[in-house]
Amino acid sequence: MEGVTDAPMRAVQGGVGAFTFAVTEFLRVSHAVPPRHVFHDHVPELRSGAVTLTGLPVQVQLLGGDAGRMAASAVRAHELGATAIDINFGCPAPTVNRHDGGAALLRHPKRIREIVSAIRAALPPSVPVSAKLRLGWDGIDAIHENAAMAAEGGAAWLTIHGRTRVAGYAPPIHWSPIGKVRERLGLPVVANGDIWTLDDFRRCRDATGCRHFMLGRGALADPRLARRVAAELGLVPREEELSEPFDWSSQLRQLVDWSHRFDMMQSDKNVSRLKQWLRLASQFGNFARFDAIKRTVTVSELFAALEHPA
Ligand SMILES: Cc1cc2nc3c(=O)[nH]c(=O)nc-3n(C[C@H](O)[C@H](O)[C@H](O)COP(=O)(O)O)c2cc1C
Repeated sequence: MEGVTDAPMRAVQGGVGAFTFAVTEFLRVSHAVPPRHVFHDHVPELRSGAVTLTGLPVQVQLLGGDAGRMAASAVRAHELGATAIDINFGCPAPTVNRHDGGAALLRHPKRIREIVSAIRAALPPSVPVSAKLRLGWDGIDAIHENAAMAAEGGAAWLTIHGRTRVAGYAPPIHWSPIGKVRERLGLPVVANGDIWTLDDFRRCRDATGCRHFMLGRGALADPRLARRVAAELGLVPREEELSEPFDWSSQLRQLVDWSHRFDMMQSDKNVSRLKQWLRLASQFGNFARFDAIKRTVTVSELFAALEHPA
């Protein structure tokens, strides 16, 4: 998630011990193949085997509309240590779409095939290439042709967010077309969108028949969700349900620590980073004290407000 799941956040999420892999924020490929330092800044994990220092494998996500430059960028990412490449065909941001990237490609199914197959052909067979899609630009039925094109291009699996570009993040979420794609293509499909609770997860699993799931905002809004889901999938042992409130303070301190280690938390203005997480948790999770921290100005003020409520 752009602006959210950067390297420090991926390290924190790796520590949760529930995820199979993380995907980077998208790296935009526009007029040129990004230079090496851009890859290293964007994906510092490339220096440690494309795995976070907390043990979570990381896939590099590329976004762009030019098949040749996308393929050359994938090759560069691989030379620098990337072990899997994901292609973003879902980003709804108007600037990105105006420049022929993200969800804009959903209106051009053959170009999806062209981009996936150019990247596939440029990489050794051992490096999987996957595609992240929304259901369509303005209609949910477009997913069938777009997904088929990505599969024809050689995608090893697809991740599908059950909304169109036009829908943005508005309800409803459409899980059942994701299941239909899985049935038709016989390819692994990762179901994504609006899994906020264990109950949502079960409904998504029932609606899609999928065995693979991507948690985005839900994993941040409720940091206990990912382990619950992983336990339900038999990936980690089932834990006793804890009744005490989640320890936000120690979770956020981990993000601060990792940010310092990546040299990314240069000043107290990064308090906004912590507020961003807590805002999500107050909107969509159980964090009830956003009012107490929202006016804090420094990281230490925020922790003081969190740890010693007035
Ligand atoms: C702030 C934000 C940034 C995002 N950035 C990306 C991105 O870089 N690449 C991507 O594939 N999806 C991105 N997404 C979409 C999410 O990966 C996911 O598909 C979407 O949020 C629905 O899943 P969720 O309900 O579990 O969050 C982003 C979403 C948000 C809210």
